[in-house]
Amino acid sequence: MSTTLIHNGRLIGADGVPAPGWVLIDGERIAACGTGEAAPAGADTCVDARGALILPGMIDAHVHFREPGLTHKATIASESRAAVLGGVTSYMEMPNTVPPTTTLRAVADKQAIAARDSAANYAFFLGASETNIGEIAALDPREIPGVKLFIGSSTGNMAVNSPEALEAVFSTARVPVMVHAEDDSIIAANAAAAREKYGNDVPVGEHPSIRSAEACLSAAKRAISLAKAHGRRLHIAHLTTAAETELIRGEELVTAEATPLHLLFDSGDYAALGSRIKVNPAVKSRADREALRAAVADGRIAAIGSDHAPHLADEKRGGSLKAASGAPSVQFALPVLLGLFPPAIVQARYSAAPAALFDIRHRGAIAPGNYADIVLVDECAPYTVGDADSASPCGWTPFAGVSLRHRVRDVWVNGTLTVSDGRLTGLTGAKPLRFDRPADPEKTA
Ligand code: DOR
Ligand code: ZN
Repeated sequence: MSTTLIHNGRLIGADGVPAPGWVLIDGERIAACGTGEAAPAGADTCVDARGALILPGMIDAHVHFREPGLTHKATIASESRAAVLGGVTSYMEMPNTVPPTTTLRAVADKQAIAARDSAANYAFFLGASETNIGEIAALDPREIPGVKLFIGSSTGNMAVNSPEALEAVFSTARVPVMVHAEDDSIIAANAAAAREKYGNDVPVGEHPSIRSAEACLSAAKRAISLAKAHGRRLHIAHLTTAAETELIRGEELVTAEATPLHLLFDSGDYAALGSRIKVNPAVKSRADREALRAAVADGRIAAIGSDHAPHLADEKRGGSLKAASGAPSVQFALPVLLGLFPPAIVQARYSAAPAALFDIRHRGAIAPGNYADIVLVDECAPYTVGDADSASPCGWTPFAGVSLRHRVRDVWVNGTLTVSDGRLTGLTGAKPLRFDRPADPEKTA
């Protein structure tokens, strides 16, 4: 097996401060790593990482890659490449494809496509529906990261709202339940009021008044009480409000996620960016954004996920009631985050935390024995992102016009150099993600 030494780079130390360091890759794994300029000699290949941060590959627990059924927007092949170009070496993908991933058969179909096409390590959520409790009961917790539950409708209309079905999901799921929390009845009332005022052409800037903070809070409360009633792990996707960051304080069974889009933008940006930042739940006020940043910094929001959700530019046309919700974000999430937080926080929330929350061993940290999922990020002169930089075939990015100071240089996936100097090498070393849980935790508990 061949060895690669990455040296002269900077590793995040235990104190959170980047310090000179090196990493030795042997085959698929990290053989050794250390601090200081002096590194072991004799590796087959040496990579000079001068000027670069050495980070563990990011683990994105929230992406929509659109395959099967929506391949006019994107594919597992295209978006997994956008992911690695952005330093994301592992992803967990969402079930609102066509057909929806609400059966174990549909999960297996996605796994087969990924085994053939994916450039990054992969896993697929099982979606909850009003009627698929049998599938949720039968899932293998070592293969499926969690159950995705839409409390409230979003793209793909997978809402589960009946009290009986919600109780059944939480009483049955033996894996974390990841919830999209927005209350449909509140949204419907707000939408009716907006229609009354504007007719059918409601401006995009009204999106946060329709998909309001109250709608988020109401559904999040419902999810938390269900998780507590059944003693189940709840991970609340894409927090968007200050109120939710308060709601989760001290809740032991509950963790939460924020996205780069909600951390970077606020409602003042609709005027310039329009439907490019129209996502569900909506980008909210400046005060909400500040609260999200504070909660990411202090760890109340444990994890960052990109909620990468590509749509064609044409599908993003029309007002608040018509334009598709969602934006591609996986390719620039890491550089955007490094502009907002110290690298130690980014590494903790976007790599270590998803590994811990979903029981992934041997990833999420630079450590001997771990898989060699490694990213070199250059700290560079400011540059401005443009739509033409999008590796996703949708051909646009909500970060167009944003100035960044970090650039992903090289990426290894299980020891295979997949991105070199910012370009795909054509080599892939992706594997299915495995979750370190008993096959049936109920029986061994
Ligand atoms: O904005 C969103 N887009 N929110 C979701 O919940 C789904 C996603 C998508 O799939 O487009
Ligand atoms: Zn999503």
